[in-house]
This record gives sequence, C-alpha cells and structure tokens, in this order.
Amino acid sequence: MREVLLVDCCVRGEQSRTARLTRAFLSALDGSRFHVTTVDPGKEGLKPLTADTLGVRDDLLARGALDDESLRFARQFAAADEVVVAAPFWELSFPAILKVYIENVSVSGISFEMLDDGIHGLCRGRRLVFLTTRGGVYENTAWADWEQGSRTMEALSRFFGFDEYICVAAEGLDMTSDPEPLVAAAEEQARTVAAAL
Ligand SMILES: Cc1cc2nc3c(=O)[nH]c(=O)nc-3n(C[C@H](O)[C@H](O)[C@H](O)COP(=O)(O)O)c2cc1C
Repeated sequence: MREVLLVDCCVRGEQSRTARLTRAFLSALDGSRFHVTTVDPGKEGLKPLTADTLGVRDDLLARGALDDESLRFARQFAAADEVVVAAPFWELSFPAILKVYIENVSVSGISFEMLDDGIHGLCRGRRLVFLTTRGGVYENTAWADWEQGSRTMEALSRFFGFDEYICVAAEGLDMTSDPEPLVAAAEEQARTVAAAL
C-alpha cells in the first residue's frame, strides 16, 4: 500500500468547488494500492510560527529530538508516498492556513536539509499534486504572473524533494454565470491524474 497524504485547505467546506476536484481525485484512486490519510490544518488548530514557538523548535532540533510530538505533521508530510494539496486561489495565491501548514512541516532534518552545496529535500513523496480553483483567468494571459499559488507550490515541491509536480486547476469560475462545465472539466482532469498514479 502506498500512503497518500491529503492536505485539505478547502476553507469553504461543502460549498467549495476545490473540494469537488478533491472528491473526483479520490474517487479515481485505486483503493487496493493507495491508503489515504487526510489532514485539515484548520481543524488541527495549527498556528503560525512565532518567536516563542521557533525558539522551542530550534531547541528540539539542536537536541536532535525529531521525534517530538510537536513535529508530527512534518514527519507525516515527509513520510507520505504521494501528497495531494487542495486549496482555492485566494489573494493571488492560497489561504493563509496552507502557509501555516507549510511553516509547520518545513523542518530542517525532517523535510529538508541544508548542506554545503545547498538545500536538499528529504520528503520521500514521489509526486505533489495541487488541486485548485480560481475565480479569474490567469493562464496564458497578461496576468499570468499574478498566479502565485501553483507557482509557489511547484517551487516548494522541488524544495521538499518531490520528483514530480502536477497541478489541476479550474479557472474563471467567478467570471461566468455557469461555471459548471469548467468545474466538470477539472474534475475529469483530477480523475485522470489519480488513475495514472
Ligand atoms: C477570500 C477570497 C479571496 C479570493 N481571491 C481571489 C483572487 O485573488 N483572484 C481570483 O481570481 N479569485 C479569487 N477568489 C475567488 C476564488 O478563487 C474562487 O471563487 C474559487 O473557486 C474558490 O474556491 P472554493 O470554491 O474551493 O472555495 C477569492 C475568493 C475568496 C473567498
């Protein structure tokens, strides 16, 4: 069994179109080959790092206490065979709770390491799949560089050491009175990606 970690940052819950992409993805995963664990950073109560919590973490790392309970999300992220991140497009990137999750899993010695020749990802995951939906249209437009959500996730996937990055996005959902075909096309893409894992 390969372990899939689903990081669910679909803040609007049942109303979320990104959550529809996620359900489509999960429906096409081969249940005999993949086991899925879901983490919802909002429900877990994860917090942004502060001077105090950074100090505690630095102390743990200095003592080599990588098995500390507070670092469990980083260990889980680094150990997954595949990681799926689902998050809508907010303020040209993604909701703050996803950044909070990234701060919590980005731990030197667990998910990456710094050596003399630079940064090396330590995550064992083969692929990082990013599922997202956007109100506007950015791909292949003059505003393409305003899209900082998938771009950031792609850079992070390399930082953490994933072999491959895949993004499934639906765009322009808030620019039409009938977004249904756009969502349905992205759901189909999500199923195709999942079936090919
Ligand atoms: C707080 C918030 C911020 C948003 N920021 C943007 C934005 O910067 N650009 C954009 O094109 N759409 C933006 N949108 C629209 C969402 O990207 C779009 O409605 C998306 O489909 C929402 O995903 P969801 O249905 O999974 O919640 C924003 C929506 C919300 C609620």
